[in-house]
Amino acid sequence: MSLRKDFLWGGATAANQYEGAWDTDGKGFSVPDHCTNGSHTSPKRVTPVFEEGTLYPSKEATDFYHHYKEDIALAAEMGFNVFRMSINWTRIFPTGMEKEPNEKGLEFYDRVFDELKKYDIEPLVTISHYELPYALVEKYNGWYGRELIDCYFNYCKAIFERYKDKVRYWLTFNEINSGTMPMGAVLSLGTIKGFNGPINKVPDEPQVRYQGLHHMFVASAKVVKYAHEHYPQFKMGNMSIFATKYPYTCDPKDVLKCQKMMRVVNWYCSDVQVRGYYPSYAKRFLEESGIRLKMEAGDEELLKEGKVDFYTFSYYMSGCESADDEVLAKAGGNLVGGVANPYLKASDWGWQIDPEGLRYSLNEIYDRYQIPLMVVENGLGAYDKLEEDGSVHDSYRIDYLRKHIEQMKEAVEDGVDLMGYTPWGWIDVVSASTGEMAKRYGFVYVDKYDDGTGDLSRRRKDSFFWYKKVIASNGEEL
Ligand code: BG6
Repeated sequence: MSLRKDFLWGGATAANQYEGAWDTDGKGFSVPDHCTNGSHTSPKRVTPVFEEGTLYPSKEATDFYHHYKEDIALAAEMGFNVFRMSINWTRIFPTGMEKEPNEKGLEFYDRVFDELKKYDIEPLVTISHYELPYALVEKYNGWYGRELIDCYFNYCKAIFERYKDKVRYWLTFNEINSGTMPMGAVLSLGTIKGFNGPINKVPDEPQVRYQGLHHMFVASAKVVKYAHEHYPQFKMGNMSIFATKYPYTCDPKDVLKCQKMMRVVNWYCSDVQVRGYYPSYAKRFLEESGIRLKMEAGDEELLKEGKVDFYTFSYYMSGCESADDEVLAKAGGNLVGGVANPYLKASDWGWQIDPEGLRYSLNEIYDRYQIPLMVVENGLGAYDKLEEDGSVHDSYRIDYLRKHIEQMKEAVEDGVDLMGYTPWGWIDVVSASTGEMAKRYGFVYVDKYDDGTGDLSRRRKDSFFWYKKVIASNGEEL
């Protein structure tokens, strides 16, 4: 079983969780800048006004802004040939509404891309990864406002033109389907105008979320079409959370419920982005949910003209679906809801670990779309112990990743066209869901803690040396 020779091996990060330098060189404020830290048991909060004495973890994060040379050297040492990162929209357009981009922000990414080039590492850039300019929340209620299509388009035009010779792989939106879930209002849609409170208390407004998603679909298609017309060398991808679901029992009612949830959560967005039109099940689902989408003339044509070239996804866990309300009420599943699977163990954060689910998902996705796939996030968020000699013995992480890579190889053997693999948070970053530092994913340990302390020094964990071997052997030595 072997992966293709040009397999892309690397790691993934996002600006808001990694860069820090939140107000440096003209950067504006984004939604995560307004989020406090939280934990597994106490949710992070959104505050429209910065509170004195409160910690906002994205503000410094793990400071890639000032450590990019050191970090890229570490990535190169592991043998990365791809580096997934995002551009911080507010570094380029501080409020998202300016006519001209911020030169200082553009220069920062020039420096990063040039550094990557030195080591022959290909950037894979997420254009918008959970870092919407907060000014767009205040003015338009985030993606609920159709105006955002143009704001996003201007942003994309500026970065495409600037980096056309430095970046080939682009993803339009991170985990676009988080907008099918209530938490997506905070993370990606920014439909939280005036909201002040813990993220699990954000009002659930499906009408607003699905209208916002429609605007994101149109924006994505408009940008993909533009890229294809102007920069034929670009490869444009989508990015979805793939939250694999199994029926809790073989009761046909559970099977149907599972099919419905697979469609709503996992397929709805990518069906539009990959096929170029709303899926046949959308009409009934939207009607029964009381959602009426407002579309404008030309939207449907645009969706058809802006289909992505490759499909990317994050994969962390799976869950089960039941049609029985009593079962649902009793058995709390993981982050994406549903019922816990009695055959699987969970991480300390309750995310159920399911390597075989990755093989299953890769096959399902490839059967459906028949375009190249890439796993752009996967990994184990865990508590790490820094030993006195500076080592971190993270055998649990190695075990998690090894099992997932084994299943990726099985999927390739099954016939899936898999381009690459970028495990999440290859260097420790702030957690997106909880705002913690304690939930670590990295091969590289960063000296930074939940109370904001730490000298930001970097240390190689055991998994660093393991992953280096994996890459050198193109996945043969696991
Ligand atoms: C994905 C996001 O949901 O999962 C990342 O794209 C995020 O931004 C990652 O960090 C892991 O989630 P968390 O909450 O453990 O950081």
